[in-house]
Amino acid sequence: MRVLFKNIKQLLQVRDTDVEKVAGKDMGELPVLEHAFLVTENDRIADFGPMDHIPDIKADHEVDATGKMLLPTWCDSHTHLVYAGNREEEFVDRIRGLSYEEIAARGGGILNSARRLGLSSEDEIYEQSSKRLKEIMQLGTGAVEIKSGYGLTTESELKMLRVIKRLAEAYPIDIKATFLGAHAFPEPFRDSRDQYVDLICDEMIPKVAQADLAEFIDAFCEKGYFSVDQTQRIMERGQEFGLVAKIHVNQFNSIGGIQAAIDSKALTVDHLEVMTEQDFIDLERSEVMPVALPSCSYFLSIPYTPARQMIDRGMPLAIATDFNPGSTPSGNMNFVLSTACIKMRLTPEEAINAATINGAYAMNLSGSLGSITRGKLANLILTREIPSYGFLPYAFGSNHIERVMIRGQFLPEE
Ligand code: NIG
Ligand code: FE
Repeated sequence: MRVLFKNIKQLLQVRDTDVEKVAGKDMGELPVLEHAFLVTENDRIADFGPMDHIPDIKADHEVDATGKMLLPTWCDSHTHLVYAGNREEEFVDRIRGLSYEEIAARGGGILNSARRLGLSSEDEIYEQSSKRLKEIMQLGTGAVEIKSGYGLTTESELKMLRVIKRLAEAYPIDIKATFLGAHAFPEPFRDSRDQYVDLICDEMIPKVAQADLAEFIDAFCEKGYFSVDQTQRIMERGQEFGLVAKIHVNQFNSIGGIQAAIDSKALTVDHLEVMTEQDFIDLERSEVMPVALPSCSYFLSIPYTPARQMIDRGMPLAIATDFNPGSTPSGNMNFVLSTACIKMRLTPEEAINAATINGAYAMNLSGSLGSITRGKLANLILTREIPSYGFLPYAFGSNHIERVMIRGQFLPEE
């Protein structure tokens, strides 16, 4: 199957060479081809260029993109989109004045979701999660990472990971699974936390790895959750089984999670709302990709990740949704893009780089996704008629997407 897009007003994120991520000043540059064509062959990008070089070929389908942008789909490198039920009542508790931490201390929060998940069958969880996955695909997401972490028993964690695997088999988008058994301490281990860490290390990690259910391993490294030592132990054990670290750090407090992640050769450190000068220094000297989650800050009214400073200091940055029932009940990467610009002072170029090529890198996917490059997967967003790409983050809250293509096939219009 061959699709020809012609008269594209702006073809965005065009990278001929193999760039796996962009950092610092380079994030301010978004390579754009004006008045362009693009050809897809089966599931890949086959060719593109300026309209005056359009090849004389027969296509199965032609799209006239006059006035429209074409760009790679969003790469959402941090979600918890497999869950059961919702936490609407906690939303109201927070409006009435309780904090995220206070709600968790009353048995709400992650443990609330874990209870609901424990009571739901694998099929129910699959059905609920499929709906969310279909929704984010329509919103332009073409690759997504999904974490476990609402199971908190060996059986329930495996159940979540099997749901992620089923989604990956059933849907055309790339899905990467992360084992997050270390998301919270379940009730029976309230006063014996190290024993829960033993369970993660001795039983959960080997079983997850044996069943080949995850590529990454995560922990919520935070006061009241997993300590730096516990996080390090879990990451080391994960490494023995080939699981690569991607860690929740510095959401509410800086306790040394960044340094633990660097020692664990993590691919990413995620959240980073609270950063000390030492954290900046250690992170900028490392190879670890920082991931900011602006819609989580928005929803919880907590500080935004100091992303402007990170980029000014030469670091790379990815942005992601954190889609989950407690701190971000939204998987909308378009909103993340706007919020990154409005609240973290990223330019549209920086935000688009953070949501595409760097998001792909944050999932080990930049070899096949994240840019308009010959041979990469044909995962594309065709916008409606808009004046320029800056309009995407600027006119927030409107849907600027006309059609989404995944692996060379348009999603059905809804
Ligand atoms: O990334 N901070 C830890 N985990 C999630 C929230 C999970 C929840 O509240 O259910 C987050 O914000
Ligand atoms: Fe998260």
